[in-house]
Amino acid sequence: MSAQSHVSRMTAPAITARKGGDPIVCLTAYDAPTAAILDEHCDLILVGDSVGMVVHGLTTTVGVTLDMMILHGKAVMRGSQKALVVVDLPFGSYEDSPLTAFKNASRVMMETGCQAVKIESGSYAAETISYLVERGIPVMSHVGLRPQSMNVLGGFRARGRELAVEDEIIANAIAADKAGSFAVVVEGVSQDIADKVTKAVSIPTIGIGASAGCDGQILVTPDMLGLFDRVPKFVKKFGKMRTMVKGAVEDYAKEVKARSFPGDANTYKFTKK
Ligand code: KIV
Repeated sequence: MSAQSHVSRMTAPAITARKGGDPIVCLTAYDAPTAAILDEHCDLILVGDSVGMVVHGLTTTVGVTLDMMILHGKAVMRGSQKALVVVDLPFGSYEDSPLTAFKNASRVMMETGCQAVKIESGSYAAETISYLVERGIPVMSHVGLRPQSMNVLGGFRARGRELAVEDEIIANAIAADKAGSFAVVVEGVSQDIADKVTKAVSIPTIGIGASAGCDGQILVTPDMLGLFDRVPKFVKKFGKMRTMVKGAVEDYAKEVKARSFPGDANTYKFTKK
């Protein structure tokens, strides 16, 4: 057997052990080159079903399929070496029974090589989470604003204005923790709720539109890079990707029209032998 260079990846238990410690840095990725850039700085890369909206142009995540998640999951695994890679289970692939969830989650793990899956966790989810974890599949849960339920919720608005909803979000997070999740994403809730959830669970909370007091943070990468004009209130644009891409394409079009591209530097000129 030949010696291979081996970089070990972050593990789900190592993420859990960061509860209350150094903030956990997470971002989404959907392709290999982006994953390769993120890998140096992120503890966890999520292949989110947000891919449906930010890559495929869908208006919600409801139309995302297992095959789409597997295709993007494979690309992210090829691009990264160090981060823990978590792949979202899409709408319809896990809700009806623990067995369905196991069949689909194990397919995702086997075909992509990722280390964990994420599910949006309502009160129905606890049995499924423990079923998967007992069978070797680490699960990250997702409470608060659950985009796959947007048709029931009536949109992508932040959750938790009513006390009953606040109680439900905290109860869902506690149930996900007790069932064996290694971490829980808390999306689109007030700082107050996010802080209560962070105190109430023994696993790290990963905030998105939540609170700086969460154990880690995640954003949808094209949103934080500035690819879109309109982003949710909780997104900070750390880059100007839209302006940069527009400028580059404009310059390219001008040069093609003026026949100044390709210039000498980009043209093959062979001397005949
Ligand atoms: O699909 C996704 O990108 C997500 C993040 C917003 C947490 O679930």
